[in-house]
Order: sequence, then C-alpha cells, then structure tokens
Amino acid sequence: MTRTVYVNGSYLPETEATVSIFDRGFLMADGVYEVTSVLGGKLIDFGGHAARLERSLSELDMASPVTMAALLEIHRELVRLNNIDEGLIYLQITRGNPGDRDFAFPDPQKTPSTIVLFTQAKPGLADSPAAKKGLRVISIDDIRWGRRDIKTVQLLYPSMGKMMAKKAGVDDAWFVEDGKVTEGTSNNAYIVKGGKIITRDLSSDILHGITRAAVLRFAREAQMEVEERAFTVAEAQGADEAYITSASAFVLPVVEIDGVALGCGTPGPVATRLREIYLDESRKAAV
Ligand code: PDD
Repeated sequence: MTRTVYVNGSYLPETEATVSIFDRGFLMADGVYEVTSVLGGKLIDFGGHAARLERSLSELDMASPVTMAALLEIHRELVRLNNIDEGLIYLQITRGNPGDRDFAFPDPQKTPSTIVLFTQAKPGLADSPAAKKGLRVISIDDIRWGRRDIKTVQLLYPSMGKMMAKKAGVDDAWFVEDGKVTEGTSNNAYIVKGGKIITRDLSSDILHGITRAAVLRFAREAQMEVEERAFTVAEAQGADEAYITSASAFVLPVVEIDGVALGCGTPGPVATRLREIYLDESRKAAV
C-alpha cells in the first residue's frame, strides 16, 4: 500500500516524496525527530512531543517551519489519509538544503528547514506479545555524544546497539556509562526493588522521555514510590523487576539482563500494572 506522506507543505504518495542530496539531515545528521503513537486513531501525548520538539530545535538554533498548532493538524491529516488505527507517526526536521556541503550552518533566512512526516501502521501495537513475555537485554558501553537530551537523528550507535543485541540473541541493549545504566537504545530504563521504582534522573545523559514523564506521574498518583537516580547493572540484576518505556513500546517488562533472570524471570506486577494504567490514561487523553 502506498502511504501518503508530508514533505515541506505537501501531502504526496511516498513514491513521489523527495529530499535533496544536499539536505543537512542526510549529509550531517543535522536534524531532530519525534515519534508519536496512535491508538484508536488518536494521538498519544501530542503536547509532550511538540514541547520536546520545540526544545530540541531551540537547543540546536534551528527554526521550526510550522507552528505546533499546524503540526497537530498535519499529524491528524496523515492519520486520516492513511487510515491509521494503531501505529506511529514519525516527524523529522532538518536544517535544510543549502545547495552544497559545508560544516558551517547555513543562514536560516536563505535555507528553510526541511520537514518530513510519515505514518507507520502497527496493528496490535497495544497488544504486544512482549508485554506478556518480557524483554531480554544486554548491557553495552554508552559511547554516544554528550547531548542525549536533544532528540537528534544521529542514530548510528543505537542501531549498532540493536544489532549487538540481535547478535547476542536478545531483544535490546541498555547503555552503561561510568558503571551506571543511562537508558535503552531507544527507550528509558527502570528497575523496581521492594516496590520502589528507580530510574535515572534527568540530565543531558539521557533523552527526557515523554512516556517516562507520564508513567512517573501515573506511578506517583497511584502512591508508588519513585526514586530518580542512576543504578548499576549489578543492582538491576538484583532487582525484583525491570522495564522500559517509549512512545512505541509504552511500558514493556524486562526479564533478563546480561543472562541473569530478574525475580522469577517473568513480567513483574509493577511493570504490568503501569502498562495498564498508561494505556488506559493515554487513550482517555488522546487527541
Ligand atoms: N525513541 N531514550 C531514547 C534514546 C529514545 O530514542 C527514546 C525514544 C526514549 C523514549 O522517549 P519517548 O518516551 O519520548 O518515546 C528514550 C523513539 C521511540 C524512537 O527512536 O523510535
């Protein structure tokens, strides 16, 4: 099926959508992105994703080619045109096409940003078998750059991390820096010990997950104890349970880290409950 995608103001069949070979997203990974999930044909936490996008753009001195209100309408139009019930919307904004390759940023007056959005239909997204089975992860060195709080399209090392996990026969990898877990290749990481939820505190070491913010809010509202601090792989292996969060995975339990099973090696009650609460509340607030 040919999708309808959005490129710089136009809705086009994916086969007709093009971006220049001089685009700085292509040549320099000079761009930012967002992934927003769709459940029941509605957007989950659009406001959070839009706010983080604005922050990513401003940290990189990049202009948004559209207002956030217009962006909401583009998201909705793509959901409608592609008849998405469950799935994802990918959005990318780059520093545009200066017509040549140069390290210096182009003058934004002469080089408008490039904006691209496309949908990914994922029937059954909310009913993932991984929620019942749990994920197995390995730990790998975190050798990414120091501004992981900006959601840039520099995803080579996270892709390599996924491949390391695949080669090891597991589902994903958790990054470790200075002996402490930062986050997963494309998600935030949590452990649970004695009923307390522990996840790394916010800094430029990790992406400030939109799902993380919502899940921690729901956890606190449900009187669960939350501690925001870094933890080691050894502490994680001794935890009662673990889980990850992201816009595409929601909340997924982790049942094994570097070959060590957590608790009884099956999804834990805290992760399972948080997934239910997150899906219920997010569906209610979807736009
Ligand atoms: N990834 N940390 C990293 C490194 C991520 O790439 C992501 C999201 C998250 C979770 O953020 P959020 O809850 O806002 O999705 C944390 C997206 C889903 C992706 O790259 O596909």
